[in-house]
Amino acid sequence: MNIMVTGGAGYIGSHTCVELMKAGHSAVIFDDFSRSHPNVVDRIRRLTGVVPIVIAGDIRDRKLLEETLSTHRCDAVIHLAGLKSVPESIENPYLYQDINVGGTRALLQAIETARVHRVVFASTAAVYGTPASLPVREDHALQPSNPYGGSKLAVETLLETIASDRFRVAILRFFNPVGAHESGLIGEDPRGNPGNLMPQISQVAIGRRPWLDIFGDDYPTSDGTTVRDYLHVMDLVAAQIRAMEALERERLIKVNLGTGHGYSVLQLVDAFSRTCGRNIPCRFAPRRAGDIAESYASGDLAQKMLGWRAERSLDDMCRDVWRWQSLNPQGFESAPSSRQPG
Ligand SMILES: NC(=O)c1ccc[n+]([C@@H]2O[C@H](COP(=O)([O-])OP(=O)(O)OC[C@H]3O[C@@H](n4cnc5c(N)ncnc54)[C@H](O)[C@@H]3O)[C@@H](O)[C@H]2O)c1
Repeated sequence: MNIMVTGGAGYIGSHTCVELMKAGHSAVIFDDFSRSHPNVVDRIRRLTGVVPIVIAGDIRDRKLLEETLSTHRCDAVIHLAGLKSVPESIENPYLYQDINVGGTRALLQAIETARVHRVVFASTAAVYGTPASLPVREDHALQPSNPYGGSKLAVETLLETIASDRFRVAILRFFNPVGAHESGLIGEDPRGNPGNLMPQISQVAIGRRPWLDIFGDDYPTSDGTTVRDYLHVMDLVAAQIRAMEALERERLIKVNLGTGHGYSVLQLVDAFSRTCGRNIPCRFAPRRAGDIAESYASGDLAQKMLGWRAERSLDDMCRDVWRWQSLNPQGFESAPSSRQPG
């Protein structure tokens, strides 16, 4: 299949493109590079032996999307482009409505014009807000506690409204993707201050940041720090590809993607520190607005609908992040190391 991957230059998108190409599909990256580095394209080439097709554009540009979809005869879209920071969404909720909701609206209109029949959408555990009970199941109440989660829920609602036998939709609620490709050639390289925990930890370990700020030590969890369901990005990518294939038989898929296990911030720091053999200095800071205490997924529905379960452990996640970070201390700005393949 020819698959357009919006946000294909980003963290999850780059891993997705590599695996799609390895599975014999052709990937068209559509990305404005506002949150990603152009060097990722060459890393994808080195991993796959193929120069990927790249369209530099904004998902709010409906015309360019239409042109891209028809020129490259796309059969499906994996929609990952968007903004994902909770604090940024609280500071600037309009931006999140504009890009995450408005951009997706433009994309869906272009998809309709170009007569593409399948879309896989990157949603988030943030659509649930504070879960009433754990593990979080797909039929739990949807009450996002921040504008980022609200923007993803608005898109889910629109997708459910327009899903039909002719236009098939998979909504995947990612819990906390971490990890990196096992080659160490691609990984998470956030621009500016990372909002997610794992890149903050790995940047402290490599010496780019003096310490890790831990937001809140008084949550009602085993050690007072927040608990999340960390999922290896390569497991997530495998689930995405299964979901795209499952749209052959399903009209609407809506599933959580997680491991079913929660780890606290301190447990993650400890696991990473053991993996890299370095101390990770930490400093406690006040709670952050929009954060919840604890969340981990029920994986039952994903198992039933996609035949998928996460396979990689927390140690695998830490090992692969450390390989990526130590081979690329400055992320994609780093010169490719001679230890890397390609
Ligand atoms: N990483 C996570 O923790 C996480 C968790 C749950 C859901 N998600 C969702 O998964 C998707 C991918 O996340 P990621 O971690 O790879 O993020 P990322 O920031 O690494 O990738 C997003 C990509 O989208 C691009 N982009 C942003 N705005 C754009 C626009 N207007 N037009 C075109 N491209 C644009 C960026 O340049 C970037 O390459 C996002 O939609 C995010 O909300 C991520």
